[in-house]
Amino acid sequence: MSIGMTLTKFLLEEQRRHPGSTGNFTAIFSDLVTAAKVISREVRRAGLIDILGASGNSNIHGEEVQKLDELANETIIRAMEHGGHLSAMASEEMDDIIHVDGKYPRGCYLLLFDPLDGSSNIDVNVSVGTIFSILRCQDGKVTTADFLKPGVEQVSAGYILYGSSTMMVYTTGHGVHGFTLDPSVGEFLLSHPDIRIPEKGKIFSINEGNSKHWLPGTGAYVEKLKSDGKDYTARYVGSLVSDFHRNLLKGGIFLYPADKKSRNGKLRLLYEANPLSFIVEQAGGRSSNGVERIMEIRPGELHQRTPLIIGSKADVEEAESFWKAHIA
Ligand code: AHG
Ligand code: MN
Ligand code: MN
Repeated sequence: MSIGMTLTKFLLEEQRRHPGSTGNFTAIFSDLVTAAKVISREVRRAGLIDILGASGNSNIHGEEVQKLDELANETIIRAMEHGGHLSAMASEEMDDIIHVDGKYPRGCYLLLFDPLDGSSNIDVNVSVGTIFSILRCQDGKVTTADFLKPGVEQVSAGYILYGSSTMMVYTTGHGVHGFTLDPSVGEFLLSHPDIRIPEKGKIFSINEGNSKHWLPGTGAYVEKLKSDGKDYTARYVGSLVSDFHRNLLKGGIFLYPADKKSRNGKLRLLYEANPLSFIVEQAGGRSSNGVERIMEIRPGELHQRTPLIIGSKADVEEAESFWKAHIA
């Protein structure tokens, strides 16, 4: 009995379909898949081993780092550094870029990642994820400046969602494809080929606990959704990857806008907003900071935050119209 289309086979076929795309992706993804399987195993047994809770450290953002954050971070760095396709990496959990150790061959790609997204949900058994973005780099010494590229320069982006099943969703600029891990064979199998986000949805995701800080455009937009006869429903998991993935499949809008408390929003441009924006645009959706396309923002620093309004095209365009109409 055939086990179906594996991620590796799909990547090889995609490579053949698009001449000029190099075999490097297949190798990079193969190492990413290894990391994903290890993180998935640790996330699923977190309650059984002493891996829950805070690590006692905090990161550059001043946020308390969970033990699983650190484990996921280490797992990805170890899985990716020896493959010979990367020159350096940038992680949400590391202040500075990580150069591939001199004892390994270097490649012409850079990997940026949020090793574990949704940390606040880890200890209460709610879905969390990993988000990644891949840039090309020049030969020679890599510096932080090589990472500060607008999202349009990404060559690939994706996420792994550790939910009721473990899924990997990615794009290399030729559509969006979803794979589900079959633990019985240890393979990611094609389950969601060529994902398209509905033009308009009925789900909105925003943390209404922040409504006292909202700027006028946000409040006016959310009020419109609540009074809209079309019965929008509110869904907010608190893990960006989970909220994004549900809206990608069902249609809807996720908002983490700028507000009076967080003038630049909360989410990070390079390894949260840009990769998900690449995916949503490839699936026919839209992603903006309220006034401009996320993928055209020129980054100034590695851990730069950005407001994020992402999802179904018609919903994001409507939210932008409220934002622009109320710009203080
Ligand atoms: P991370 O765990 O990588 O720091 O990301 C958490 C983010 C994102 O996953 C989620 O959408 C957002 O934080 C939730 O923030 P609030 O709890 O402020 O709503
Ligand atoms: Mn995150
Ligand atoms: Mn994180």
